[in-house]
Amino acid sequence: MTELIVASRPAELVRQAAEWLDLEVTRAIGERGSCALGLAGGRTPEPVYVELAAGSSIDWSKVGIFFGDERAVPPDHPDSNYRMVSMALLSRVPIPADNVHRMEAERADREVAAREYERSLPRQLDVLLLGMGSDGHTASLFPGSAVLDERHRLVLPVLATKPPAERLTITPPVIEAARKLAILATGEDKALMVARAIEGPFAPKEIPVQLARRGRWFLDQAAAARLTARRVAT
Ligand code: 6PG
Repeated sequence: MTELIVASRPAELVRQAAEWLDLEVTRAIGERGSCALGLAGGRTPEPVYVELAAGSSIDWSKVGIFFGDERAVPPDHPDSNYRMVSMALLSRVPIPADNVHRMEAERADREVAAREYERSLPRQLDVLLLGMGSDGHTASLFPGSAVLDERHRLVLPVLATKPPAERLTITPPVIEAARKLAILATGEDKALMVARAIEGPFAPKEIPVQLARRGRWFLDQAAAARLTARRVAT
């Protein structure tokens, strides 16, 4: 069941999304003793990670950090999702280094890197946060990609249509298996795709973010502007 949170202000969106992460990670730890947390890259989630680091009471020793995708750049490169997550979250919370599973997309053999990453992934992520591009991609699953037909591999090398092209990405089975899903999308450039993804026919090969349609959508008013009916966050 798709759940919509449409925030009246950017700071409200950040607070609501960080609060959701705090709640779901804490709940997973309470129910199962640990939490496998998958994180989105890109720009949108950065302030959410900063807010989560500042305000959460999570026992980070019980959290495993995983990535939805990574670009084929070194971990200190400005385009690195790992670098963004490290600066916004990991460097601000007491999480053991062994708990952080970086996707080594910069390795010469990305197929080997993908297979090694698969071995680090749990059968099921407890919490997965995803972003969405204005073309409907999520992680590095882009419209029309053959990876969208993948049913067995959990991580694959891909060529993205959004630079940097060379990447590693989780595959549809990882998104479908996640216990709790959230999607972050802001800005009017995503409004049409948000409406198609949430209210349109289910066609994940054309709109990969629909793989996460059942999740909780955190939107600002601009991104929600084309939806026919929505619940505005308080
Ligand atoms: C990436 C992300 C990607 C991102 C969307 C939205 O590595 O690019 O994982 O899926 O979530 O492209 O990016 P923005 O948040 O920057 O709009």
